[in-house]
Amino acid sequence: MWVADMDLKTPQFVVDAVSQRAQEGTYGYEMYDEKAKLAQIQWMKKRHNFTFEIDDLFYSHSVVASMNVAIQAFSEEGDKIIVQTPVYSPFFKSVKNNKREVLLNPLKKDENGEYTFDFDDLESKIDDKTKLLLLCSPHNPVGRVWRHEELERLGEICLKHNIIVFADEIHSDLLIGGVKHTPFATLSTQLNALCITAIGVGKTFNLAGIASSNVVIQDEVLKKRFDEVYESIHFAQGNIFAHAAIQSAYSEGSLWVDELLVHLEDNFKALSEMLLKHENSIRFMIPQGTYLAWLDCSALNMRDSELREFFVKEARLGLSPGLSFGKEGSQYMRINCAVSSDMMHEAVLRLDSALRGRTDG
Ligand SMILES: Cc1ncc(COP(=O)(O)O)c(C=O)c1O
Repeated sequence: MWVADMDLKTPQFVVDAVSQRAQEGTYGYEMYDEKAKLAQIQWMKKRHNFTFEIDDLFYSHSVVASMNVAIQAFSEEGDKIIVQTPVYSPFFKSVKNNKREVLLNPLKKDENGEYTFDFDDLESKIDDKTKLLLLCSPHNPVGRVWRHEELERLGEICLKHNIIVFADEIHSDLLIGGVKHTPFATLSTQLNALCITAIGVGKTFNLAGIASSNVVIQDEVLKKRFDEVYESIHFAQGNIFAHAAIQSAYSEGSLWVDELLVHLEDNFKALSEMLLKHENSIRFMIPQGTYLAWLDCSALNMRDSELREFFVKEARLGLSPGLSFGKEGSQYMRINCAVSSDMMHEAVLRLDSALRGRTDG
């Protein structure tokens, strides 16, 4: 229950669309289908009120690759790039790989234990070498879906300092308990003009292996600069099976996703109910987005290596250690809850029994 893909089957209508394409038996070059792009545009409008045109879309095989293009396009070696830890590790690895400097702006917890942006820390650290902010929205691993006003305040700071925002919104369809996602690019015309958004079917429909996502840029100046680096790498047009998968997922997938979200919420609840029975043990808030649960294990008083051993050997669960998301992830574990009810039940039983073993023993 570690890597961020689902243990649930991709919807049958997508499997059928890909199988049908496979049956055609011609696997040569193929343009990214306009119908697939239109299906995505409609999806984004309907589900997130995010409106853009076909010309605003760039195909990419990977969100992380797009992030690297943005880093190269909008900063130079030695520049600073804001990363809000704990976060999915390619955020800070990509900055370092491109010989830029990570400007750490760790998230902080408010009085209710909810993660928030630390605006004061951010403002105190920004200087004229700070060029880009890598925003994770919804946030992996802490599960926050940023509120409109939080994003707006973050945006104001970026606007004031002329900082471009790469908004990784790959988890934006995975919203728990009716929470709404605000695409950063929809906040205002001014913020749209400094925003590069990454979206795609990978997380929503368990299609990460189909290797297809998109970047949306609406500002012409930004688009031109992004395109220069993008073209220099040659991303081409993607793979033919992805075209079939995307079109079918976005045009037929609404109900399937609605049902998925109810299932994920049930899984989170099962975990939460069990953990509530263990006082002073693992603290956990049901996430607002993503299928990832972020477990605060600090009350167990174990070192990070011990914690990992505890999960593997006592609970018999393979999770992602919090430290892999930056040092702020120390004492945390991330568990992927996109599994069947049976598997979730089994995981809950195992963890329950391991925690009992600790307190009873
Ligand atoms: C926030 C975030 N961005 C990007 C990715 C990876 O996207 P891709 O496989 O398209 O590079 C992940 C996968 O876990 C993720 O959680």
